Amino acid sequence: MYSRIAGTGSCLPKRVVTNDELSKTVDTSDEWIATRTGIRQRHVAGEGETTVSLSKEAALRAMSAAGVSPDDIDLIVLGTTTPNLIFPSSACLLQAELGIAGCPAFDVNAACSGFIYAMTVADNFIRSGSVKTALVVGAETLTRMIDWTDRGTCVLFGDGAGAVVLKADNETGILSTHLHADGSKKELLWNPVGVSEGFKPEEENAGVRVLMTGNEVFKHAVKALDSVVEEALEANGLDRHEIDWLIPHQANLRIIEATAKRLDMPMDRVIVTVDKHGNTSSGSVPLALDEAVQSGKVQRGQLLLLEAFGGGFTWGSVLLRY
Ligand code: ACO
Repeated sequence: MYSRIAGTGSCLPKRVVTNDELSKTVDTSDEWIATRTGIRQRHVAGEGETTVSLSKEAALRAMSAAGVSPDDIDLIVLGTTTPNLIFPSSACLLQAELGIAGCPAFDVNAACSGFIYAMTVADNFIRSGSVKTALVVGAETLTRMIDWTDRGTCVLFGDGAGAVVLKADNETGILSTHLHADGSKKELLWNPVGVSEGFKPEEENAGVRVLMTGNEVFKHAVKALDSVVEEALEANGLDRHEIDWLIPHQANLRIIEATAKRLDMPMDRVIVTVDKHGNTSSGSVPLALDEAVQSGKVQRGQLLLLEAFGGGFTWGSVLLRY
């Protein structure tokens, strides 16, 4: 039994913020941001746009593409590190928005690897035979927890959501998934306040902000992604040249290029959206996947390698026949 992607969808907030616009409020430039990261612009959630509202739109589009109705969904897994509320989970809020009480619904927090983790969980439910149709979402409103005075982080992130409908299939679909984590490096990329450790009422946004040692994270990301794409190839006895499309987490064009080089893939076989979306964390891989499907680049029967790296650290990949 496989889990096959039956449909994809995505949703971005309306407001676009360019690098030039950011350079009016922090000491940066379009040239610095574009050269170091590949980012040119990002979408920023405005009033009424939340992780759940973006998820709902992405989910409806994915269900429409898959030809399924909300009533057909028997599992919702939502990858996010920026839920609407502490609880209920955003997956439960999404379920209510879709009007489908009854099926299990829960969030997965693996920072930027959230969608890869969520896909893996849903794939295991389907392989075990307990679920036939799963809605898997990666969605974030990360700009809500950005320190807009920190030029080292505020230029990197954007908001957005992507979704897939996974269906049980006898013939083709997800070939393997590979997840990893290393909690010992948490200080390199984190948001160090919360319910149990406490908030900091004296600080801006009660201390809720992304802290990152960018150059260290960069090194760890390249190394971890190198090993996880090798792991996926080895597990399936595949040669690197058999991959049709690399659909990477969109954090930094230089990290993406390093993984493509490792796979000996020309950049025209790599889906790149980081220039338009920035780093949308859990949203990035499903947003890139949906764009690749909508544009007609990705075709049925092709071999896709999805991968991500994020805070935790967490990292992983999904190898699938589309
Ligand atoms: N504009 C201008 N200058 C800047 C900016 C900016 N926006 N940001 C930093 N700088 C300066 C720094 O202050 C530093 O100046 P100094 O040398 O005078 O001290 C200089 O630029 C170099 O800084 P570095 O941090 O060494 O720059 P680097 O080349 O490493 O690029 C970047 C920084 C883009 C953040 C990169 O390290 C990166 O992409 N890292 C990985 C990010 C990532 O993949 N995160 C994982 C997922 S995120 C998640 O899970 C939520």
